[in-house]
Amino acid sequence: MKVLSGMRPTGKLHLGHLVGALSQWLKLQEEHTCFFMVADWHALMSEYKNPHLIQEYTLDNVKDWLSCGIHPQKSCIFIQSQVREHLELFMILSCLTPLGWLYRCPTYKDQIQQLKDKELSNYGFLGYPVLQTADIIIYKAEGVPVGEDQLPHLELAREIIRRFHFLYKKEIFPEPQAILSSFPRLLGLDSRKMSKSFNNIISLQEEPEVVKKKVMSMFTDPLRIRRTDPGHPLKCNVYSYYKAFKPSMIEEVKDWCENAKQGCTDCKRRLAQIIIEVLAPIQEKRRQLDKKSDYVFDIIKEGNKKARSVASKTLEEVRELLKL
Ligand code: TRP
Repeated sequence: MKVLSGMRPTGKLHLGHLVGALSQWLKLQEEHTCFFMVADWHALMSEYKNPHLIQEYTLDNVKDWLSCGIHPQKSCIFIQSQVREHLELFMILSCLTPLGWLYRCPTYKDQIQQLKDKELSNYGFLGYPVLQTADIIIYKAEGVPVGEDQLPHLELAREIIRRFHFLYKKEIFPEPQAILSSFPRLLGLDSRKMSKSFNNIISLQEEPEVVKKKVMSMFTDPLRIRRTDPGHPLKCNVYSYYKAFKPSMIEEVKDWCENAKQGCTDCKRRLAQIIIEVLAPIQEKRRQLDKKSDYVFDIIKEGNKKARSVASKTLEEVRELLKL
């Protein structure tokens, strides 16, 4: 199966990316033909007022992917804006996508509401899912690992593809399916949605001391007030972190909590240690990569080249079909 996914380079990667996206990518690259893309044009759609950070995060994010084990010999790692064919297909798809589909997209309405300070009532941002469709179909990807929040975009992609096939009377694109992570989304340290604007994340490059401090500040079961009160692990965010980072321990942790065998402070101290251990090899690899940026640039250059060769073939096919 051909797989494509992307991440917007708008910040440092954090534990949520590791549990949500990257762990899934790692599995997929073992068995499938994978394309992993830095979606810098998508980042520009919301960050156009401060575009200079995009480039910085692009390199930073790719280094983190590599540090986590995304392997350039297994996966094609590339930068969206270096494969201009995406834009050409985006333009063609824009012609056949009705405005109503885009205005109705729930993520569009949500983002405009939530990110008021970013002024997203722009022409480009409305077309966000159309560009995402181009990203996917230009590689004829069948599987798209994404978070649940992206499901409306995949639905829209399938609709755009069907309309394309209907108009030009030839089925050249597979209808892509979402590949959802089996692990539920990790919440932030304060149990709200993980977001750098809430300052509730642990980044992949966080110093051990900071990890400790942040984990100790996590909210636990609000009903467990005294050390001797029994807790409710299923209502505790700390417990969900154990599930993500040390599944072999969850029975034990459940017992600590439900039978008040350990207090929340000890439980968190242990979790901090576990997270530090999970991050240690990633951070070590990252330190090495920081010393050889040329090596990383070469990987990206190779990835761009490979992506371009696939994308340009698809575009030729499309131009031929439309007689352009
Ligand atoms: N919209 C995706 C997100 O915010 C990023 C993205 C861009 C993407 N193009 C893509 C994901 C293509 C999957 C496939 O997470």
